[in-house]
Amino acid sequence: MSAMGFSLGTAITYYIVLVVFALVGDVAGCYKSIVGFGDSLSDTGNLFHNSKSLSNSFVKSSVLPYGETFFHHPTGRYSDGRLIIDFIAESMGLPLVQPYFGGESNGDRSFAEGVNFAVAGATAMDISFLTERGIINSCTNVSLGNELDWFKQICQTPSRCKEYLESSIVLMGEIGGNDYNYAFSQGHSKEEVLSFVPKVVTTIASAVNELIKYGVQTLIVPGDLPIGCSPYHLSYFITSNASEYDPQTGCMTWLNDFVEYHNELLQEELDRLRELHPHTTIIYADYYNAAMKLYTSPSNYGFNNTLEACCGGGGPYNYDPDVNCGSPLSTVCDSPSSYISWDGSHLTEAAYRWISDGLLNGPYTSPQINGECILSRPKIKISDS
Ligand SMILES: *[C@@H]1O[C@H](CO)[C@@H](O)[C@H](O)[C@H]1NC(C)=O
Ligand SMILES: *[C@@H]1O[C@H](CO)[C@@H](O)[C@H](O)[C@H]1NC(C)=O
Ligand SMILES: *[C@@H]1O[C@H](CO)[C@@H](O)[C@H](O)[C@H]1NC(C)=O
Repeated sequence: MSAMGFSLGTAITYYIVLVVFALVGDVAGCYKSIVGFGDSLSDTGNLFHNSKSLSNSFVKSSVLPYGETFFHHPTGRYSDGRLIIDFIAESMGLPLVQPYFGGESNGDRSFAEGVNFAVAGATAMDISFLTERGIINSCTNVSLGNELDWFKQICQTPSRCKEYLESSIVLMGEIGGNDYNYAFSQGHSKEEVLSFVPKVVTTIASAVNELIKYGVQTLIVPGDLPIGCSPYHLSYFITSNASEYDPQTGCMTWLNDFVEYHNELLQEELDRLRELHPHTTIIYADYYNAAMKLYTSPSNYGFNNTLEACCGGGGPYNYDPDVNCGSPLSTVCDSPSSYISWDGSHLTEAAYRWISDGLLNGPYTSPQINGECILSRPKIKISDS
């Protein structure tokens, strides 16, 4: 594998970038590349393109209707179109971030403008940590530690990557959500899952610390989404006890409280890292609240269906764990942009676009992403009407 170095491909890429940037305008001082880590909220094709060695099961996002809205074919993204990482790249004038394990640009292994290590299904904790607790990852064995190892392999030594990383922005996550998702959906108690939240959070923080050692100067570290609003959890925990649901949104209160606990601890850990590294910009991305506003005022964003999956196998939330989106018995809605949930555990492109807008232009990053680096807003089109 050729490292990010000085191949002809890289030289050509740089040339093209210079030409494009010259047309777009002055981008001096902003990021030349995006480096991604995480799970299916950010995977732009790793699990799909390397399913033989990474996947424990059929890659659900490898068939239509995954990708139908934007790419018109499956790319391995768990949505009908682009993800938050794609909207961040677009807004910064960068190409969509290439998966580490090859993607659209077959054979072009130049990572000059970005590389994405995120793998759908990945957990923050190592597989052994989960196995010891009886938590099964039927999707992949990849953890954040493996993603960091791949990163270190292409960097080889910290000094070799320093210059590249100084002009890069790292998206660290979302990661850790699956550690909880698997545990909850396999019957582990809230108390048990709560007990390992601090370990998940310190694992994310030490990955950030490690990257800073390699020369990263700007990172975005997202919290988790409101999983209490996801059809996947709503179906599993369905109950006739109305007081378990938020009357305004229909989301499950205790699950969202759980996520807020994780997000609180993560932010405290980021505060500690900021003290340790005063010259590094560590941005918290509040995915939770950026998404929550879609559930509390859906019509403002063109959504008329908040808790049912657009694509799924039926049931009260159109989510059936035995009939995945894309399988022959599943159905897909006509208008994905009027749904928040795409397949029960992932969001539609429309929802990701609004969340991205809230991160890039709104109040949901702290400190705010430097506005001078944002060349365009995610284009918003309300519904298909
Ligand atoms: C994941 O780990 C399990 C248990 O160690 C192993 O049997 C399986 O082959 C691994 N899967 C992959 C894709 O490496
Ligand atoms: C219903 O849920 C509420 C909130 O979680 C709980 O306090 C209450 O005990 C539950 N009621 C029943 C009958 O389980
Ligand atoms: C929701 O919005 C879509 C797109 O505008 C429309 O086609 C659909 O009929 C609406 N559904 C309901 C239940 O209002």
